[in-house]
Amino acid sequence: MNIGIIGSGTMGIGIAQVAATSGCEVFLYDANSAQTEKSLEGLQKVLARLVEKQKITQESSENIFNRIKFSTELSDFKDCDLVIEAIVENKEIKTKVFQQLEEIVSDECVISSNTSSISITSLSAELKNPARFIGIHFFNPAPLMPLVEVIPGLLTKENLAAEIYSLMESWGKIPVIAKDVSGFIVNRIARPFYGEALRLVEENIATPEQIDEAMRSLGNFKMGPFELMDLIGIDINFSVTKTVYADYFYDPKYKPSLLQQRMAEAKLLGRKTGKGFYDYSESQEPRSKNKDIEQNNEVREMIFMRIISMLVNEAVEAKRLGIANDEDLELAVQKGVNYPKGLLAWGIEIGFDKISATLQNLYEEYQEERYRQSPLLKKM
Ligand SMILES: NC(=O)c1ccc[n+]([C@@H]2O[C@H](COP(=O)([O-])OP(=O)(O)OC[C@H]3O[C@@H](n4cnc5c(N)ncnc54)[C@H](O)[C@@H]3O)[C@@H](O)[C@H]2O)c1
Repeated sequence: MNIGIIGSGTMGIGIAQVAATSGCEVFLYDANSAQTEKSLEGLQKVLARLVEKQKITQESSENIFNRIKFSTELSDFKDCDLVIEAIVENKEIKTKVFQQLEEIVSDECVISSNTSSISITSLSAELKNPARFIGIHFFNPAPLMPLVEVIPGLLTKENLAAEIYSLMESWGKIPVIAKDVSGFIVNRIARPFYGEALRLVEENIATPEQIDEAMRSLGNFKMGPFELMDLIGIDINFSVTKTVYADYFYDPKYKPSLLQQRMAEAKLLGRKTGKGFYDYSESQEPRSKNKDIEQNNEVREMIFMRIISMLVNEAVEAKRLGIANDEDLELAVQKGVNYPKGLLAWGIEIGFDKISATLQNLYEEYQEERYRQSPLLKKM
């Protein structure tokens, strides 16, 4: 199978590695060919490390690398069966590339986007043949994160989602099918993990260290919200939140945090700038500014319950709206953002009535829409 990948940045090169590893011929194109050179050099190092660790043989490493063709012209994509676009997150620029691509590939070629936040339906509507267009959303780093959200738009032909689903399985991925809503599954239902944590800090209720500790110890999360934001990049996380907020017509549930905006303005972006909520100037391990993070169980429990209740409520609302089936909702958070369990399962474990009571208390205290419950929560 011939796969075309447009954009050889962080995501494009990772997806190329995944496709080539499963035996596809890959054509990799970037408007900036120096980027492709740099990414291919990086891939060589990644493959060498896999050989060293005896994860793959020298021979298969060479085969994987040789299956990726460095394309300097989009016209190299003429025999592709599937094209995955992973360029800059800008609708106008993506649309231009798709229109150019439609003149090159055959009518049977499937065209897809790895966009995190642009509506698949709106991208497809700009194509001559929108029925062949679909979202295929990988997570970063693509070779390591198993989840892939497959997103048919309103104009996507029937069966295409099922075909891409099977293809992703054959690439060793764990696909889920998501509705074309802002944030798809993960970037929508995981928002309160960051948002509610930021709010607790803004209100001086707890420090980032205390919150991270509570989520790790009571929730078994590998990373707390602040460590994770530092890893993702505070600017990136902030921009996803802003997009989701605007796309849901400014639903107060998704209101971005002023603290996060200030951090982004100050270029305290996390690991990539050496400082975020933690300090990375001496090592990649987050170093706390406040050493003393002892806290009593009551505070720890309150932090955990507030964040987990918001998350479970989002998952229940996604279920109610049919954004994905239950199984996919559960898989999405476990395989896309490493949650220790699915949020619906968590609701059962804690008790949906307890989740509902927590949100009711918050709603009464703050009188804010932010804490409104999914109509399904009380029926669970
Ligand atoms: N980085 C992530 O964590 C992540 C995760 C999932 C999805 N995504 C999505 O994947 C896409 C790519 O993100 P990224 O992080 O890999 O970006 P990136 O900046 O690392 O790479 C983008 C590449 O696209 C190239 N490019 C820009 N305009 C082009 C054009 N007109 N034609 C050809 N190439 C062009 C750039 O030269 C650059 O190399 C975005 O849509 C993003 O939303 C990113």
